[in-house]
Amino acid sequence: MTIKHIGVVGAGTMGNGIAQAYAAKGFSVTMTDVAEAALERGLATIDASLERLVKKEKLAAADKAAALGRIKASTRLADLAEVELVIEAATENLELKLGVFAELDRTVPPGTIVASNTSSISITRLAAATKRPDRVIGMHFFNPVPVMQLVELIRGLQTSDDTYARVEASAKAIGKAPIRVRNSPGFVVNRMLCPMINEAVFALAEGLATAEEIDHAMKLGANHPIGPLALCDLIGLDVELAVLNVLYEGFKDPKYRPAPLLVEMVEAGYLGRKTGRGFFTYG
Ligand SMILES: NC(=O)c1ccc[n+]([C@@H]2O[C@H](COP(=O)([O-])OP(=O)(O)OC[C@H]3O[C@@H](n4cnc5c(N)ncnc54)[C@H](O)[C@@H]3O)[C@@H](O)[C@H]2O)c1
Repeated sequence: MTIKHIGVVGAGTMGNGIAQAYAAKGFSVTMTDVAEAALERGLATIDASLERLVKKEKLAAADKAAALGRIKASTRLADLAEVELVIEAATENLELKLGVFAELDRTVPPGTIVASNTSSISITRLAAATKRPDRVIGMHFFNPVPVMQLVELIRGLQTSDDTYARVEASAKAIGKAPIRVRNSPGFVVNRMLCPMINEAVFALAEGLATAEEIDHAMKLGANHPIGPLALCDLIGLDVELAVLNVLYEGFKDPKYRPAPLLVEMVEAGYLGRKTGRGFFTYG
């Protein structure tokens, strides 16, 4: 069965981006959230994002209207009864996601694939909370979803070849470049990116160089578009710390121990751009 109608659970940063990406490529989308206000914000974000493309003459005004017309918003999971693929992008919390998966399993047709955009929770574990573990998979999109090309497709222990193939086809249909990843803490990108950022924090704490110099070094010496400390400010120091803890606990390997300076900055509330202060300060 080809996937034509997508359900998205959670209308926040990632959920509305996923809804936009699918609707812009002709898929019908039903986006749900527990909060009516989150749905309104999500729809307004999609509208503004598509409008920017219209202004840049990358999208016709009629195509923007058509994309918006393909998105329905609802606070009820029961409104996902017609979808072939649900992508869960609710708040990152194990108990909450286990509850959402159990409810989705009771609500959507048995043939429907249930995917999670989780950054850190085991797909195998989420799959085990359902009666369709072979039709559960991870779809890890990157922020901002309409722009970033990568999607990590994470196979749990139970994920079937058919589920993988159909989800891969749907990701390619919206212009994404998927990679196949085995279920494992941090998947591929965070497994490599977060330890690199952590090492930059250790280097800063040791006085190896200033924050500006560390970022300068990686931009000019390794051709990175953004330095590791500025990137940490963008991601959020709390999010970086949470991912490191997942790696540390998942592998029980001291190489993933978070830098004490990172922990202390999170304790101080210096979370990066979102609080105006991290390794750098923002106006
Ligand atoms: N932000 C990122 O850069 C990023 C990148 C990749 C993956 N992720 C993952 O995507 C998921 C969502 O992250 P986000 O940054 O969009 O969070 P967010 O806080 O912006 O949005 C989460 C939304 O989920 C809604 N929600 C909470 N409980 C719900 C429920 N039971 N049913 C339906 N909706 C519910 C909230 O009201 C909120 O609107 C998380 O699993 C996160 O780890 C985030």
